[in-house]
Amino acid sequence: GYNGLAATPPMGWNDYNAYGLDVTDTLIRETADAMVASGLRDAGYVYVNIDDGWQATTRDSDGSLRADSTRFPAGIATVAEYVHARGLKLGIYSDAGLKTCGGLPGSLGHETADAALFAAWGIDYVKYDNCYAGPGCDQISCPDGTAAPAQDRYARMRDALLATGRPIVFSMSSWGTEDVSRWAAGYGNLWRTTGDIQATFASMLSIYRQTVGLAEYTGPYGWNDPDMLQIGNGMTATEDRTELTLWTMLAAPLIIGTNLVDATPATIALLTNRAVIAVDQDPLGRAATLVSSTGGLDVLTRPLANGDLAVALFNSTDQAATISTTVAAGTLTDLWTGTTTTTTGAIQATVPAHGSVLYRVG
Ligand code: DGJ
Repeated sequence: GYNGLAATPPMGWNDYNAYGLDVTDTLIRETADAMVASGLRDAGYVYVNIDDGWQATTRDSDGSLRADSTRFPAGIATVAEYVHARGLKLGIYSDAGLKTCGGLPGSLGHETADAALFAAWGIDYVKYDNCYAGPGCDQISCPDGTAAPAQDRYARMRDALLATGRPIVFSMSSWGTEDVSRWAAGYGNLWRTTGDIQATFASMLSIYRQTVGLAEYTGPYGWNDPDMLQIGNGMTATEDRTELTLWTMLAAPLIIGTNLVDATPATIALLTNRAVIAVDQDPLGRAATLVSSTGGLDVLTRPLANGDLAVALFNSTDQAATISTTVAAGTLTDLWTGTTTTTTGAIQATVPAHGSVLYRVG
């Protein structure tokens, strides 16, 4: 790993999926408190990440990036202190272009100063977006030749963050463009594989399908990022559980994207399942590959550090279905129910529409 961080996929929370650009000091502090009180922090969710919208509309007279004085009246450093005092870490957001996706100042050309400022504030994680990537570009797209390759623009911020000497996780949010998975190890600790996730089964399914074939590029210190979780944001309970099953099999970062102050006990229970988290965070860091995918019924396996195998059965269709596969004989633990049985090797389950079953076999 180029910076020694993210030996396992990062875990935490980010405001964007639930609040869009409407982030404030109060939201971050209340969320940090909720992460402690709910047990999420102790389950491993330690990053509290500020997304787009925190900045003032212009840099100050010295050219320094600064926080919006209404949203963060006491500045960012004091929020970092608050979060650190609770055993959590603070993330922030900027953009490898002239403006962020929300139209606020980007970091292109200001990488050294912005990284130094983030480090001085006590930032532990930087999410780096890819809007307005050069002169002549609009929010998402660029006429040919008007922006430097993402690889170059991301390398500039990587180097600037390294030069600060502070351990800062670097999250590259270039939406899977320029075949990012193929080169991203050594550039960042995680990289988005797709466009933005929505709180729908169709969106989650599409992102899963675009990411599952990229297993060979993901591993310790550098992870495919199928985007932040939509658990708690309106999918069914079955779909919420499927999202965590699939993200766990993908060895994905687990960045919660819901309102944690008002999260239901069911959402917290889902997110804090220790046996599932242990698979996501398995130190071998090998993402799942598809054993079979027929008629919308998927079988995935992922080898684990202690020699066990994680197995997921996923029904993407709109009707319940029986899914079966064969593994080595052993003890079979259903990680969502906690039930343990023994198997001679055959595994079979009836899986509800949009549902999934997750086993550990050893
Ligand atoms: C696009 C990213 O993909 C999102 O995750 C979010 O950071 C928004 N930009 C913020 O503008």
